[in-house]
Amino acid sequence: MADEVLVGILGKGTVGGAFERLLTERAEMVAEVAGRRPKVTGVLGRKQGDFDEILAASDIIVELIGGTDDARTYVTRALREGRHVVTANKQLVAQHGDELVAAAKEGGAQLRFEAAVAGAIPVIRVVQESLGAIPIEKVFGIVNGTTNYILTEMSRAGLSYEQALAQAQELGYAEADPTDDVGGADAAAKMAILARLAFGAPVSLDDVAYEGIERITPDDLTYAKELGLSLKLLGVAERVGEKKISVRVFPCFLYPGHPLAPIEGPFNAVMVEAPAITEITMSGPGAGGPETASAVLGDVVSVIAGGSPLFEENSRLGIAKDVESAFYLHLEVEDRPGVLAKITQILGEAEVSVRSVVQKGMGDDARLVMVMHEVSEKRFDAALAKIAKLKFLRSPPRSIRVIEEEFV
Ligand SMILES: NC(=O)c1ccc[n+]([C@@H]2O[C@H](COP(=O)([O-])OP(=O)(O)OC[C@H]3O[C@@H](n4cnc5c(N)ncnc54)[C@H](OP(=O)(O)O)[C@@H]3O)[C@@H](O)[C@H]2O)c1
Repeated sequence: MADEVLVGILGKGTVGGAFERLLTERAEMVAEVAGRRPKVTGVLGRKQGDFDEILAASDIIVELIGGTDDARTYVTRALREGRHVVTANKQLVAQHGDELVAAAKEGGAQLRFEAAVAGAIPVIRVVQESLGAIPIEKVFGIVNGTTNYILTEMSRAGLSYEQALAQAQELGYAEADPTDDVGGADAAAKMAILARLAFGAPVSLDDVAYEGIERITPDDLTYAKELGLSLKLLGVAERVGEKKISVRVFPCFLYPGHPLAPIEGPFNAVMVEAPAITEITMSGPGAGGPETASAVLGDVVSVIAGGSPLFEENSRLGIAKDVESAFYLHLEVEDRPGVLAKITQILGEAEVSVRSVVQKGMGDDARLVMVMHEVSEKRFDAALAKIAKLKFLRSPPRSIRVIEEEFV
């Protein structure tokens, strides 16, 4: 009979409950593949269990409480006291990564957090271990299922942002308070974690510039469809030159054929680009109790099987202050001669080159829908500020980034 490994579970909600069931169901299988049979020592809820008792009785602590208050205290204590920790808590890892790594080193313990990014998709393992020894250029993708569901429904059924959000809440794809998801903070935390692992740089949530999808209108999606584009909330972490990286979250149009374009509904997908591998795309369910619990169980198996993942912070990369992006620009204008000429003059002066222009509607409904080639974001923003002051604009200009790359 295999030896036991003692597992304490913090949290018994959506993921905690699913994990406890899965661990019990799969205990025999875990014993076969990892050599030791997991046994639950206790489950902590707000009104159930005692942390000190669970800690004293456990080899591994699985943190599924969420947040950065008690979860931070419990996880750092467990690591310092030599317990391996598995967590699904992206905010904890993104905001307090340094502290957790130091605590893990102090206690000689492993820290694993596969479920913190992209739910059931094993993206952390791929970036940290499978590709751990090759230089990665870029990690990017759709890492928030709530926003992907909302954008998919706005595009597919022509719903407004508010209608699509209400539908996502009804179906359980969005929480009652959706701020972190729709505002981009959830995706930003996940990108901070991925950037840290991909580039070996101490990236924290404060280094990530993020925007959400609250300002997207059905109009943007209608025109995008005509141009053959699809809209996603993307997280992008990439090298900029030799010494810098950029980590950002923003809504973005993709051309057809892009591997992320067909990812619809609550699904996630992450791409990794490196000269040695060209690119890898991974997609699948990004959330859900049983799905996330399966990623947590995978981490528990890895901890039992032994071998600590690389978590070396050895690079001195700084955060880039300006990067290049291509843009879509939507302008509601008065229908009179000289309008297009004035706008292209301002763009030309800022060295923004226009890829396509479509004029829509007439009279009170006249609009210009333009797509720009890649340009410094600072230069584009400066040009946009000038355009916003033009008297013939009927509403403020709306711009959304575009990934120019076309895949065949
Ligand atoms: N849900 C998903 O699909 C998903 C996907 C990926 C990652 N995650 C991450 O997984 C973690 C858990 O999420 P969840 O959806 O399972 O949350 P949840 O359903 O709200 O469950 C949280 C659990 O933690 C307990 N808890 C909260 N504060 C506590 C405290 N101070 N002391 C002791 N217990 C406490 C709650 O206890 P009571 O029941 O007593 O209130 C509840 O059992 C979060 O970090 C989340 O970001 C979730």
